[in-house]
Order: sequence, then C-alpha cells, then structure tokens
Amino acid sequence: MRDINKMELHLHLEGAAPPAFIRRLAAEQSTDLSGIFAEDGGYAFSGFNHFLTVYEAATSVLKTPEHFARLTRAVLEESASHGVIYTEAFLSPDFCGGGDVAAWRDYLAAIEEAAQAAERDFGIVMRGIVTCIRHFGPDRARPAAICAAETHGDFLRGFGIAGDEMMGRPRDFLWAFDCAREAGLHLTAHAGEWGGARSVREAVEDLRVSRIGHGVHAVDDPALVETLAELGVVLEVCPGSNVALGVYPRWPAHPIVRLRDAGVKVTVSTDDPPFFRTTMTAEYENLNRSFGWDETDFAALAETALEAAFCDDATRQALAKRLKET
Ligand code: ADE
Ligand code: ZN
Repeated sequence: MRDINKMELHLHLEGAAPPAFIRRLAAEQSTDLSGIFAEDGGYAFSGFNHFLTVYEAATSVLKTPEHFARLTRAVLEESASHGVIYTEAFLSPDFCGGGDVAAWRDYLAAIEEAAQAAERDFGIVMRGIVTCIRHFGPDRARPAAICAAETHGDFLRGFGIAGDEMMGRPRDFLWAFDCAREAGLHLTAHAGEWGGARSVREAVEDLRVSRIGHGVHAVDDPALVETLAELGVVLEVCPGSNVALGVYPRWPAHPIVRLRDAGVKVTVSTDDPPFFRTTMTAEYENLNRSFGWDETDFAALAETALEAAFCDDATRQALAKRLKET
C-alpha cells in the first residue's frame, strides 16, 4: 500500500505538524504545551471542540515564516514516504500574519520555497489553498480572502473554509468566497462533517464550491446525493479523521462506499494525520480491510483526485504520467 502513488487533496499544514516538531518549538520558546500531549507523545484531545483547542494551541508556537518553512519540509517528507506524489495543503493567513497581506506574502514565500525544495528532494508536488476559519467569523474571513486573491498564482490555487461548522451559515461568508472566485481561485468548503446534509447543500448552492471537505452527511439526503452526482461535486473524504473524531464509530460504518456507489465523486485524504494517528498508507489499508478496495479502486480514487486537483494543466499532465508508473 505504501508504494502506490497517491494524490491527496485535503491536508491542513498545521494539522500535519508532527507532535515532536511542535514539542521542540515549544521548548525553544519556553512555552508549556504539556497539556496537549498524551503519554505516548501524540496529541491528546477528546471530541471535536477540544481537538480545535489543541490544534490552535499547537499552532501557537508556529510564529515565523522560517517555522512554516521547516514545517512544510517535514510534512512533505513524511507524505512522500507514504507514496503521496501530490498534496493540496490548507494554509491559514490567520496563523500566518493575522490577515495582513504583506506579512502573509512573507509566510507564503517561505512555504513555497520549502515546497519547491521538497519537490526536488522527495518528488512530491504541493499546491496551497488559503482557508478561512469559520469560528473566527466572517470579519476575519474577508482579509483571508484578500490574502488569497493577492497571491493567487501557480502555487496558491484555491480558497476554502475550515473550523467549527456549527458556527454561522455558509452564506455569512459570501463576500469572502465571491472575492476569491473573482480572483480566479478554485473553491472548496468544509461541510457535512458535523453539520447535516443542509450544510452541504448550502455550501454548494450559496458558496458555489466545486469541492466539499468531508461532505459525508450528504448521504442522509438521497436528493442531495443525486444533485452532487449530477453536478460532479467532488468530496474530499477523510475517513480516518471521521472515525478518530467520532463522526462514525468504526470504519465499516463509514458512508464512502454508499456515496461512491451512488455516483458521487470521492477522493481520500488524511486531514490532520498525526492528530488522527493516520497516514495515506493507513487510509488505503483500512479501505482495503473494511471494504475490500483494491488497486482498481485506488486507481479510480487517484484519477478522480487528478481531475479535481486545483493545479494547472501542465502539472496535471505530469502527475498523470507518474500515476501510470504505479
Ligand atoms: N481544521 C482542521 N481539521 C479540521 C476538521 N476536521 N474539521 C474542521 N476544521 C478543521
Ligand atoms: Zn479538514
């Protein structure tokens, strides 16, 4: 499973920070983060809201562009060791300069430079998606969207929204999404992870996104499932994340098969791998163990991700060649 070439569309850069990396930064800054770690050294949290608190505590020691450059390299080296040849990472101006465009440019330049070095050294291609954070509210989403619009290019490809889906409604973030769309960015939104099918419907109808982060609760509404299939909306499904956070109690209860069999385009990602003690290899192993998915299914997953990737077409063609090699 490890050697299969994989495509990942949904990875939070800070959420992929190895716990040892965060512990070291905390020690360098004499910051006590002992409360966020379990005895075995991994992250410790109980439930989604506590996860968000722990996530933001871990992120608090990522303070400079150089920290983010080091993080980018560590994350990409780890992903590449699991056969990932392409990853789209969520980047947050809220954690990188607080929404100030000049500061954001410095962070993004450091991240992009580290990504280019990782592509040379580990053979993995990375592209960025700016994400605003729902529980920080629409007023902070606007500067995040402006940061995205100002830096849209070959590397920074999309705009999205993460965070606590139960706060506010998609339409509260219309200004930010319209701003990003007008700048030519591709759009995705976390929805249907904690919110129900209505949350997914509103993200598609109001924010006009082409992809949905998670989206799994769409399965509860057959009419919506049909609409997603008809429109070709792509779901960035993160089953290991869903099981770790208790969205579904066990892998066999996960609806990815039902969604796929109903004609919805599904891809698979890790979300925040060390938090959820997963990797892309583990995701594939669990898909095989729980649902019998094999090379044909994995090739279809990669093909869907390739089509849905926010990269330019030259990058897509180069990736297509590499996928044929496995
Ligand atoms: N930010 C990082 N991981 C997330 C998740 N699973 N849901 C919402 N926001 C997130
Ligand atoms: Zn996510």
